[in-house]
Amino acid sequence: MKAAVVSSPGGTPEYADFDDPAAAEGRELVELVASGIHPVVRSLAGGRHYGSAGVWPMIPGVDAVARTSDGALVYTGYPVPPYGTLAERISVPGGMRLQLPAGADPVRVAAGLNPGLSSWLPLTARAREVSGLGVVLVLGATGMAGLLAVQNARVLGADRVVAAGRSEARLARAADCGAAATARLTGDGEADTEAITAALDGASPSLVLDYAWGSPAESAFRALGGRGLSEDTGDIAYVQIGAMAGPEAAVPSSLLRSRRIRISGSGAGSASTAEIMQQLPAYIQHIADGVITVPARVVPLSRVAAAWTTAQEGGDRVVVVPG
Ligand SMILES: NC(=O)c1ccc[n+]([C@@H]2O[C@H](COP(=O)([O-])OP(=O)(O)OC[C@H]3O[C@@H](n4cnc5c(N)ncnc54)[C@H](OP(=O)(O)O)[C@@H]3O)[C@@H](O)[C@H]2O)c1
Repeated sequence: MKAAVVSSPGGTPEYADFDDPAAAEGRELVELVASGIHPVVRSLAGGRHYGSAGVWPMIPGVDAVARTSDGALVYTGYPVPPYGTLAERISVPGGMRLQLPAGADPVRVAAGLNPGLSSWLPLTARAREVSGLGVVLVLGATGMAGLLAVQNARVLGADRVVAAGRSEARLARAADCGAAATARLTGDGEADTEAITAALDGASPSLVLDYAWGSPAESAFRALGGRGLSEDTGDIAYVQIGAMAGPEAAVPSSLLRSRRIRISGSGAGSASTAEIMQQLPAYIQHIADGVITVPARVVPLSRVAAAWTTAQEGGDRVVVVPG
């Protein structure tokens, strides 16, 4: 079969021949319809992600919309390395497939589920804990996951979404998608702290969704830190999801003492597969109905090398289709 093949860590995939995945018990062969080049796809292929199998040559790709042998259009994933979803044929677990509702655009589903579920899961979990989501702060709202987080928070009933990120144009896009206030991050810690403080406008967020970590997280910690000795009336769940701005961030001890705040993470390993499978149908339906807008750009598999470079630039999610 034809596939995107990465020969060594950090390499660019080539459109090349690769053996079909072997038939295995409990798995089925499906045909590619659409598969997104998400950041995790690039970092797994580069060997930089904790989930990387460390095997090359390999086919990148973690999830896809695919056609089954009985003609159904399904969202699926979980290929076994060195196989991935950027290939004409994909071996997937028989039970890990979800039929697309009528009218769903396979490209937008393939583009939106990985970035979108990253906030949908913590948002729905938080919504179960509190009587209303209130204010939600999205750090790194200029990327696809952040843009979908802004929309998801609104769909799930947040009163006000505050979007923080670097690119002015993409912050404007977040505002168009429902962010009530934006904080422009410049990399200057003090200025970023002031920008986040001003955008929060005195509110204590019930949930922080952090796609940046690094310096933006440190600025957020300063902005969230309490002053004075009276009891905190807020309750903040801070969820670490991405690390576009750096793998480390220093947590001030005073933040943990002055505020009711819990810092946790969400990702492959910590997220519950059962919860993902439970939330998937509703989220796919929202994409199908256009309630959630997913900007996507389609590229044929034969042009995967150029698509790989384009995907690095962020913006619309690059989705690979057969051809
Ligand atoms: N844990 C999970 O379940 C999960 C799921 C999906 C994604 N993620 C992670 O979330 C992150 C974002 O994913 P994505 O899909 O949104 O990627 P994306 O669409 O490629 O966007 C990445 C964004 O990161 C921003 N960025 C890069 N460096 C930055 C910095 N130093 N400070 C502030 N912003 C910076 C870029 O902002 P500019 O526009 O300013 O250049 C870009 O818009 C990635 O780390 C990804 O791996 C995690």
